[in-house]
Amino acid sequence: MAKEPAFTCAKCAASFTKWSGRCESCGAWNSIEESQPLSAAGPAKKTLGGKRGTTIKLTDLATQEAEPPRTMSGVDELDRVLGGGLVPASALLVGGDPGIGKSTLLLQAAARFARNGLRVIYISGEESAAQVQMRARRLGLTESPVMLASETNLRDILTTLETEKPDLAIIDSIQTMWADNVESAPGSVSQVRASAHELTTFAKRKGIAVVMVGHVTKEGAIAGPRVVEHMVDTVLYFEGERGHQFRILRSVKNRFGPADEIGVFEMTGKGLAEVKNPSALFLSERGKPAPGSVVFAGIEGSRPVLCEFQALVAPSPHSQPRRTVVGWDGGRLAMILAVLEARCGVPFTGLDVYLNVAGGLRVSEPAADLAVAAALISAREDAALPPDCVVFGEISLSGALRPVSQTENRLKEAQKLGFTQAITPSQKKRSGDAGLTLRSMEDLPAFVEQIFGER
Ligand code: TYD
Ligand code: MG
Repeated sequence: MAKEPAFTCAKCAASFTKWSGRCESCGAWNSIEESQPLSAAGPAKKTLGGKRGTTIKLTDLATQEAEPPRTMSGVDELDRVLGGGLVPASALLVGGDPGIGKSTLLLQAAARFARNGLRVIYISGEESAAQVQMRARRLGLTESPVMLASETNLRDILTTLETEKPDLAIIDSIQTMWADNVESAPGSVSQVRASAHELTTFAKRKGIAVVMVGHVTKEGAIAGPRVVEHMVDTVLYFEGERGHQFRILRSVKNRFGPADEIGVFEMTGKGLAEVKNPSALFLSERGKPAPGSVVFAGIEGSRPVLCEFQALVAPSPHSQPRRTVVGWDGGRLAMILAVLEARCGVPFTGLDVYLNVAGGLRVSEPAADLAVAAALISAREDAALPPDCVVFGEISLSGALRPVSQTENRLKEAQKLGFTQAITPSQKKRSGDAGLTLRSMEDLPAFVEQIFGER
């Protein structure tokens, strides 16, 4: 049997079977430490063979466990992302870049839940109580019965939570927490992991919902929220572009509801405000139909969302032309460029290509393929698409257009926002057209020919 790795690098979390002065994986000095069992639930030193445990109660697949009662915050954009309100005895992680608005969001949420009757404790390891109170004043939340503390010692925090018995505890942030049974400094992988593990098991044992804030660190995954994603029930990310006032709360994992659900917020001087109609918001900065601009009718979670893809194509001064993407996958862009060249005879050699999703939204649906292709050709040919037209469809490597899910919902949303036409893949089974004129196509060459004419 392989030997258990008993040493871990505090910088990169690589495991080793023996100690050394320098981590072979990331090259850091003096970062290797012996992994200690954190608590009763930590890795067992001995084998489990000797002592008998207690017998677990077994059930069958049919008997339904009672659904835990949920609490709504009253903020639709938040409740939907949570999968229909807050679940008791659950552990949540809210990740995001520093300064994106996590503390603001959670203080507002804490105030809402407190007003709806939950006992809420907000613990900041980053700011003093006075600083949090100042934020609460600015947000107009001072009347809400939220209990507050500034503390980083996890042992003291757990003891306090045990006596106070709140329904919801917010820990801002997991990187500032210090568990005294782990040697390394706060913010290191072992500390973050140990603290999150303690808080998660505590949440289950005591029936408290625990929300942990996790900063996405510069190095990416290391010691950031990724390290704890697998432990918690729900992982939400708070995203947005620094320069934009939109913020998107996205569920990437949810044991109590659908993942990939989004809530859209707008930053204001008085904190985050819900955006009830995100399509209108994402299209609000759109001017007259211009070459390179295409409206994509997308689905985010359970909701249709329209957004604008913008492309710019220009002769490149570089021997290696640029491919720059914001809000979409760079690999997928390369694929579509290749399909355009190979199947439609539209080359992008010697041309710089820039692609951007307006408003700071990040789209990951393959259904956006056709919108991307349309934006690219439109920019390259300097020819705008018909006005009042939305586009969606997946492109395969053969150049065929594949139908996508929820066609009717996409069309309905487009119709609601005043669009009159849609360019879509041909469908065997016809769904409703929601009153739009549909231009359906079999493949990408047909699309290029019908929309941009003979070349
Ligand atoms: P903050 O919540 O502190 O971000 P994080 O906890 O993710 O690091 O917000 C960062 C700054 O932005 C803070 O100075 C307050 C400001 N802000 C607003 O003015 N209005 C808003 O709606 C939000 C979300 C933030
Ligand atoms: Mg903060």
